[in-house]
Amino acid sequence: MKPTTLKGRSLLNWKDWTPEEIRFLLELSHSVKKDLRTGDIHQRFRGKSIALLFEKRSTRTRCAFETAFGEEGGHPVFLSTQDIQLGSKESVEDTARVLGRMFSAIEFRGFRQETVEILARESGVPVYNGLTDDYHPTQVLADIMTLEESFGKSEGKNLCFVGDGRNNVARSLIIICAKLGVNCTIITPAELSTDKGLLDEAAVWAAESGAKISVTDKLDAVAGADALYTDVWVSMGEEAKRDKRIALLSPYQINRELMSKCGNDSAIFLHCLPAVKEEEVTTEVIEGPMSRVWDQAENRKHTIKAIMLATI
Ligand code: CP
Ligand code: NVA
Repeated sequence: MKPTTLKGRSLLNWKDWTPEEIRFLLELSHSVKKDLRTGDIHQRFRGKSIALLFEKRSTRTRCAFETAFGEEGGHPVFLSTQDIQLGSKESVEDTARVLGRMFSAIEFRGFRQETVEILARESGVPVYNGLTDDYHPTQVLADIMTLEESFGKSEGKNLCFVGDGRNNVARSLIIICAKLGVNCTIITPAELSTDKGLLDEAAVWAAESGAKISVTDKLDAVAGADALYTDVWVSMGEEAKRDKRIALLSPYQINRELMSKCGNDSAIFLHCLPAVKEEEVTTEVIEGPMSRVWDQAENRKHTIKAIMLATI
């Protein structure tokens, strides 16, 4: 596939991306990582700027966008809700139209998926979803890259997400795994089960790719897993639900015993971070030899650079 094919595209979730397009981004991600290691410098964003809009906090996503864009000679501009009138005094539509006249691309992290969709529709430039309540698409590209680094390939591998099955990370994993032929089991209490609408959509992509996608409340389903993945039990914006979540999810902590239930000595541990150690994962596991979380965090930058290089 020619890189030019993707110019101008937005990434709102992976639903409208073909497996071939996603694989192209993964290859580019591995290649930009290698270039950075060997000091092969490019200036492909020279003379360009990107607006980074954040309603919610971020370490990895913000730093990945800023450093990836800056390393290529571009100028990233960070704009929080303390800085601009996003949807309060000025509509999202008007903000999008103005930013689209000044920037080559826009990243948005915040609450409503609808906001990032309006930005994409009205700005006329590529827009990237840096996390909403519903999806976290840039995260899961880095997760698949990390699987590929660990096992040489991701297709046919067994990934188990253990935790809040309705959250943005779980929902995005389902989509990308279904598209790429990665088997994905969501292990979550029935109350937090992934919505049927998304599972029905995923079934169509999985039928094409051969992926097995399932949701269960049974921890025994980790048997045969190549990777156990978890995320915080309380996502940003859900702080009021904290006590209920802890009660529901405490049996679903990833610890040494659960890792050993995979029955696979080469099974790895993944977490999008930030982690609350001793809640969703024990310190022993996240700091232990199976943990790939720091590679996974670094890969956010390479995958985000690849997404921007392909689309700007
Ligand atoms: N994983 C992730 O999105 O991290 P940040 O919230 O720090 O951006
Ligand atoms: N589900 C988490 C992901 C953080 C990267 C949240 O939305 O807070």
